[in-house]
Amino acid sequence: MKTEINIGLLGFGVVGSGVAKILQNHQEDLRHKLGTPVTIKKVLVKNLNKKRDTAVGIEAFTTDLNEVLEDESIDLIVEVMGGTYEAKDAIERSLRAGKGVVTANKDVMAEYGLELLKLADENKCDLFYEASVGGGIPLIRTLEDGLASDRITALTGIVNGTTNFILTKMKHENMSYEDALAEATELGFAEADPSADVDGIDAARKMVILASLAFSTNVRLEDVFVRGMKEIRDGDLELAERFGYTIKLAGSAKKDEDGVEVAVEPVFFPNSHPLSSVNNEFNAVYIYGDAVGETMFYGPGAGSLPTATSVTGDVVAACRNLLLGVNGKRLHAPQFERKVKNDSNKFSRYFHRIIVKDEVGVLTKLTSIYSQHGASLATVVQHLDEKEAGADLVFITHEISRQQHLDIVNELNGTPEVIGVSSHYRIEGEE
Ligand code: HSE
Repeated sequence: MKTEINIGLLGFGVVGSGVAKILQNHQEDLRHKLGTPVTIKKVLVKNLNKKRDTAVGIEAFTTDLNEVLEDESIDLIVEVMGGTYEAKDAIERSLRAGKGVVTANKDVMAEYGLELLKLADENKCDLFYEASVGGGIPLIRTLEDGLASDRITALTGIVNGTTNFILTKMKHENMSYEDALAEATELGFAEADPSADVDGIDAARKMVILASLAFSTNVRLEDVFVRGMKEIRDGDLELAERFGYTIKLAGSAKKDEDGVEVAVEPVFFPNSHPLSSVNNEFNAVYIYGDAVGETMFYGPGAGSLPTATSVTGDVVAACRNLLLGVNGKRLHAPQFERKVKNDSNKFSRYFHRIIVKDEVGVLTKLTSIYSQHGASLATVVQHLDEKEAGADLVFITHEISRQQHLDIVNELNGTPEVIGVSSHYRIEGEE
């Protein structure tokens, strides 16, 4: 019977230092829950000389991964170094060395998750990754355990804290995009390269992880339709408000008999929809199941301690398995080979903002384009904007396919009376 569990911590940045803090501050509680102490034995860092405010002794720090992996007293590796290739290599080597792994790495899990889970199974090790999605919200465990008996049909929500923080600050505090991003970076929410946040890639990776698990299939990053924050034009946040909507960078995943569809894009939610009120770095995800119906999970989606809470939750789960001798006993192979829907089978309502030359007959011409494409219109509004050269038109469609929407936008952009479709959004959460 083990009398202590030793951890090798790879990385001591925003999340790693949070993990050390929680393991230190909650040591007595963990000892009570597990019956043994959990100790950070080694910490892998890039620079030994950096000043660190931590109770972890200086002798634990090393720049050599081998020193961590070859330490036989280390039972569990916690990978919070970030990045892709180095981290993937470290996870593989840890598993091959027979050590369980807890990771917060969505880049690695989105791209190589199934491969690594298989490797973990082969080596009879646990590989847990709760912190890879939704910061402090236990989404992975919910899908793996709480909702395990249900058939999940859809997931939709806000899975990137940085962009939600930026959109909240821009809308409610009139902050510029640049200032809001700088503050999100300062607070430790943004990725090392924040373009992953603002271009929607971080959210797309998280949706790959969630959708693969929820639908027990092998969704790939290239299956995800991605549009980032740059698609939101000046004045769109106010325009959305005028029509009773809030813009959020949202992820959605659906599954039906035609296959799976996964998207990340700026979406219009009615102001009355709960996701419209999810602000700052908070995330929230709706999960729809055949049996359970609609559930919603909400909490901090980024930041040191919330993310570290998920990591240390996994540490506790892995420690329990080690103590019971049941580590590495989960089966991870997906049940279904992936089948991805095409754009003709994805349906939504759309909001189109179109700048046109202010000429007689334009409205009729544009409405006929919609009808030629079989799209029925719910709302058409014209409002002259003094700052624009022409007239600003808003068209809101009834449900159409993404293909119809793309074809209409394409045709509108090629119409001489149209200066441009300045922006377009999918509308979610409306009956
Ligand atoms: N950059 C990420 C976000 C961190 O803002 O959501 C948490 O995964």
